[in-house]
Formats: sequence, structure tokens, C-alpha cells
Amino acid sequence: MTYVVTDNCIACKYTDCVEVCPVDCFYEGENMLVIHPDECIDCGVCEPECPADAIRPDTEPDMEKWVEFNRKYSEQWPVITVRKEPLPGAEDRDGEAGKLEKYFSENPGEGS
Ligand code: SF4
Ligand code: F3S
Repeated sequence: MTYVVTDNCIACKYTDCVEVCPVDCFYEGENMLVIHPDECIDCGVCEPECPADAIRPDTEPDMEKWVEFNRKYSEQWPVITVRKEPLPGAEDRDGEAGKLEKYFSENPGEGS
């Protein structure tokens, strides 16, 4: 089992999640984070920290796609362990439909 970051993180990137993770398994893209599924120890402490409710356990239905998505980008992006400011407009974009198609960037973030 693992937790994964899903599409409502995109264009918000609050980063409240990263400082509670005991194994530092969040990785930063330009406009979202992902969790490395092989490093996550399933402790669950990050899930309630996300204001956008974007972190889900893979035991929920139809999560296979997000596990592979998180795996793919966690192997390409830098680790992030320190919280930073959310992206501009994060509150307005929280809950918006179609974020993956509209905003997702494969580019890495800066990491921290
Ligand atoms: Fe880190 Fe625990 Fe969240 Fe996994 S469930 S990403 S180990 S805080
Ligand atoms: Fe994204 Fe939520 Fe973390 S919006 S950066 S998963 S706190």
C-alpha cells in the first residue's frame, strides 16, 4: 500500500504535506508534488495536512493510474522536504475540473 498525490494538487502545490513525512518521500514538479510509492511507509500523516484533499490511499478505487503517475515523476523530480509558498492563485484553483489537462507540467521543481 502507498499514499499518492492526485490531480487537485496541480496548480495549488500547498506543500503542507512535506514537513510531516517521516521518510522524505515527496518530490517536486513545477506545479505539483508526487510521492514515491516504494518509499512511502503508509503512515497516513500527510493525508489530513493537505488543504486541497489531494493525497489519497491507493486502496481507493481507480488509483492504479495515480500510483504509476507518482512513481514516474518521483524518479525524475527532486526531493522536497521544506514547505514553501503555494502557487499564485492556489485558492481559486482548488477543486477546479480538468487540472491535469489544463495545467500539468512535466518540468521538475526546485526541490528543497
Ligand atoms: Fe510520507 Fe506517510 Fe504520507 Fe507516505 S503516508 S507520503 S510516508 S507522510
Ligand atoms: Fe499538493 Fe496538498 Fe501537498 S496541494 S503539495 S499534496 S499539501
